Amino acid sequence: MSEDGFRATYGTGPEGVWAAPGRVNLIGEHTDYNDGFVMPFALPHATVAAVARRADGRLRLHSGSPDVPAGVVELHVDELAPGGGAGWADYPAGVVWALRDAGHEITGADIHFESTVPTGAGLSSSAALEVVTAVALNDLYGLGLERWRIARLCQRAENVYVGAPTGIMDQTASACCTEGHALWLDTRDLAQRQIPFDMAAQGLRLLVVDTRVTHAHSEGEYGKRRTGCEQAAAQLGVDALRDIPYEGLEDALARLEDPELRPLVRHVVTEDRRVERVVELLETGDARAIGPVLTEGHASLRDDFKVSCPELDLVVSAGVEAGALGARMTGGGFGGSAIVLVEESAAEKTAEAIAAAFATAGHREPRVFTAVPSAGARRLV
Ligand code: GLA
Repeated sequence: MSEDGFRATYGTGPEGVWAAPGRVNLIGEHTDYNDGFVMPFALPHATVAAVARRADGRLRLHSGSPDVPAGVVELHVDELAPGGGAGWADYPAGVVWALRDAGHEITGADIHFESTVPTGAGLSSSAALEVVTAVALNDLYGLGLERWRIARLCQRAENVYVGAPTGIMDQTASACCTEGHALWLDTRDLAQRQIPFDMAAQGLRLLVVDTRVTHAHSEGEYGKRRTGCEQAAAQLGVDALRDIPYEGLEDALARLEDPELRPLVRHVVTEDRRVERVVELLETGDARAIGPVLTEGHASLRDDFKVSCPELDLVVSAGVEAGALGARMTGGGFGGSAIVLVEESAAEKTAEAIAAAFATAGHREPRVFTAVPSAGARRLV
């Protein structure tokens, strides 16, 4: 299908087709820019790119997605510069810029994208777009880049070219996740472990509830949280909040010059601890016991880190009230999606209860689906 789209756009066939998924984060939120731990897994929803190289420096980008303006965006690799200005096309263009800036010779490309990752749902559609571009060019141009390196270059595209100050989680999830696993990642040195995560085998389901809201200023608020965390680390004399051990939390809170930063520190330090706890529970086969840890994480994001919103809070409260084992917002916050862990037998009833609570509150109907841990980026054709 994406090959047909490529042909219809450019008049010839592509050299290959690649896919990179969106993600859900199980636990470890707003820890990645604090050198902490995260635990995302890949969704079956993916961005697919049909790609052919060019030798003349032209970079032509086209998307079949109904969410983006129609037409081919045409750029020249020599003229790419941070700041972009090409809307959705800044993500793939930023990757080409980052690859070339790192010394890799990319002489142009024609790319046609199609995607099943919902945009604006906090499920990393932009990371999927970046990573699929990077893996395709890595293969076609024979760059030999390892997956963690691809993730770093994609993060650079997003931070420097697009100008969004995100951490490394989303790009690493899209590049490195494997089917049936959650990815434990130490964002300081990018050490990874694939943790078996098969909820269905244990009679459980993890629902993703897309609230279909994105609140204004979310990017500015993200940047403020990040700056606050960096200030706190500086006041505490550490490189990053990851360096504050859980046992040292109270002491660190007392030592902070600026008491307003206390809740940020408390969230990050306790959240890193929750990641450790979830890994332990999954490794001992006690998947049901992760529920309360997820809900506790939500409370911390809501009350201390202050990145939730009424719709996300309602998913969690209505879900838990309907008997879910646990629930939390996932991703950056201020809208987007939440995850809800339920007994298989209670999945439908819980989803209905959440939808009913949304209707009562006058919110738009949420979109609910079951999350199945899926493969990371790969070549399809
Ligand atoms: C967004 C960012 C990630 C991470 C999360 C919060 O998804 O892209 O790097 O910081 O928010 O955990």
